[in-house]
Amino acid sequence: MSIPGRRGDNPTAMAATLPFPERAARRRSQLEDFLVLRRNLLELWGEPAYTETFLPGRFLGRTQVLLNDPAGIRHVLIENADNYDRNASTMRILRPLLGGGLFLATGEAWRHRRRTIAPAMSPRMMPMLARHVATIAEETVAELGACFGLVNLLGHLQRLALRIAAHSMFSLEATGFSREMREKLMDYGLHHTRPDMFDLMLPAAIPSPGDRARARFRTEWTAMMDRVIDMRSALGPPPEEARDLFDMLAAARDPETGRGFDRAELRDEVSTMIIAGHETTSTALFWACYIAAKLPALQAEIAEEVRGVDLSPGVAAEALKRLVYTRAFVDEVLRLYPPAFLMVRVAREADSILGHSIAPGTVVSIAPWVIHRHHAYWTDPETFNPGRFLPGAKPPARFSYLPFGAGPRICVGAQFALTEAVLVLARLMQTFEFQLAGGGGMRPVGRVTTQPDRPTPFILTRRRVPAAPRP
Ligand code: HEM
Repeated sequence: MSIPGRRGDNPTAMAATLPFPERAARRRSQLEDFLVLRRNLLELWGEPAYTETFLPGRFLGRTQVLLNDPAGIRHVLIENADNYDRNASTMRILRPLLGGGLFLATGEAWRHRRRTIAPAMSPRMMPMLARHVATIAEETVAELGACFGLVNLLGHLQRLALRIAAHSMFSLEATGFSREMREKLMDYGLHHTRPDMFDLMLPAAIPSPGDRARARFRTEWTAMMDRVIDMRSALGPPPEEARDLFDMLAAARDPETGRGFDRAELRDEVSTMIIAGHETTSTALFWACYIAAKLPALQAEIAEEVRGVDLSPGVAAEALKRLVYTRAFVDEVLRLYPPAFLMVRVAREADSILGHSIAPGTVVSIAPWVIHRHHAYWTDPETFNPGRFLPGAKPPARFSYLPFGAGPRICVGAQFALTEAVLVLARLMQTFEFQLAGGGGMRPVGRVTTQPDRPTPFILTRRRVPAAPRP
């Protein structure tokens, strides 16, 4: 099999067609920055961000730093991680959904939660999770097969990822529940996730006007989660092995203290896993399909690799090791279009990064979007080239590839996310050929995740040579 984009090839043509946001050539005023922040966070960074390693600035009276340097990133995310908290607007926007769950927890509460949850997400659990992924992928393929004309693929992938999250959590098909959850999340996304001036300026402990509406949402959200947990708990403990993540979380014990989760903690962890996992993964899958449609030669490579591979629920986990190119493709998608495009931290106490003094309250941004396109770490950074991640390729420089973050707070669901993205992409490419209707013109925007700025319709046609599964 010939693999375009392998190391040594010259895949320059693959760069030109992929969309990216405006890059300001000059420094903007604070008012312009505020408007950009509401419109598209990816436009915050001008040309110098992609060549320099430490970019200080001021915004709304606070010192800000964009950090692109590996040693600096290591310092903030690992060596002195306890000194850097999540910022107030992240807390405001996510707390109504995630409560005190792992993503937002700090200090000893975070350590307890992380120790307790980690075994549920270990590689040992991947075959069980892959079964849930493959079951829902199969249903989605059937639904897409019944679609005629233009397809709103992003909508289908968001539903798919939410159903995978719900199914791997509760085993229940729970279609009604995923629909209700989806409606609530859409409402929340539309009305409560764009920070206004108060959200940005007030400390997290002081409620902003927007927080009042978010608090009302939280009451409805927790009532819904409680209903589902009651329904699921009625199934009782598993006869033998854990059926899903709920079984794992309900039985999980902190290996150091022996303590498990109480009811409210369990509800927040269930919410955290579902929310943190589904929007990010559906976004990754959207960009994977978009790029495959833009670059048909690479789409053909995936189709060739997955042709005839048995991806049914019972054997999907086993099939993963054969999907080497598909995995490299996903890794490269996560480089150029990282769903989590920005990690923001606030210094608790005075510190020093790369010899620069950091005052308490300084906002430190680490942006996978920028680092993954930074000229110091990547050759032809704008070029989409899965060869960078194929076996035998030189590994990326340390801390230059951070789709899942790094250090103690690295994404706990990374293995699950990769399993899901690779299996679903493989199953879709096995069945359909993907094309963009009308050229697929659009720009990526950074909101909570990296999204297209407008509906991007696809045309799906069935592949002509569906082979029998290979042994
Ligand atoms: C492609 C999909 C995904 C991407 C790109 C992604 C990205 C990330 C990143 C960058 C972080 C670190 C954030 C920071 O340090 O500020 C993170 C944390 C986290 N992710 Fe993911 N994630 C994905 C899928 C998932 C899945 C499937 C789950 C759960 C089932 C999950 C659960 C979490 C949780 C709970 C944390 C917080 C960990 C902690 O603070 O200890 N993520 N994720």
